[in-house]
Amino acid sequence: MPRIPSSIKRILITTEEIQQRVKALAAQIDHDYQDVERLYLVGILKGAFIFMADLTRELNTIHTVDFMALSSYGKSTTSGAVRILMDLREPIEGQHVLIVEDILDTGRTLHYLYNILKGRNPASLKTCVLVRKLRESVEVPVDYLGFDIPDVWVVGYGLDFADRFRTLPYIAEIKQT
Ligand code: PRP
Repeated sequence: MPRIPSSIKRILITTEEIQQRVKALAAQIDHDYQDVERLYLVGILKGAFIFMADLTRELNTIHTVDFMALSSYGKSTTSGAVRILMDLREPIEGQHVLIVEDILDTGRTLHYLYNILKGRNPASLKTCVLVRKLRESVEVPVDYLGFDIPDVWVVGYGLDFADRFRTLPYIAEIKQT
């Protein structure tokens, strides 16, 4: 077990809990897509890269892995505009698309992306979110959910604070300074 950095306040979700939940989500996805020839997974960089790596290795459904990078402006402001920094490699028209996101906070990122991808006429479009903060957020469908968490700043398992702590193997609340 790696040392817990001093700026970590408390561990919210342990490595074992994450592993178990990821396995369960993969089983649920396998079940729901059993009649689908190929699933097109869209991971949202940077945060989702670890969740995506673990989830896809638990999946039996044949799938394509792709990523998008989005940036949101003024997270702490009301504007919260989102833009695409890196797009998908392939057109998704007629594909069964599953968005893989690490965290739903204000919901703006997922809401924006959902509408963009919906406009590309996929055969189906669903979302898989590892953690969702219990707070007021933009209305967006979450088809597969890992955990609901309190509205605190969390890091680990892909989630960062100023690009630190992404590779912690657990999800933890960080101390506010
Ligand atoms: C984080 C996270 C989500 C988004 C969720 O990304 O990975 O994509 O915020 O927030 P929202 O629900 O309020 O839109 P961030 O913009 O921090 O970029 P990163 O993943 O590259 O760290």
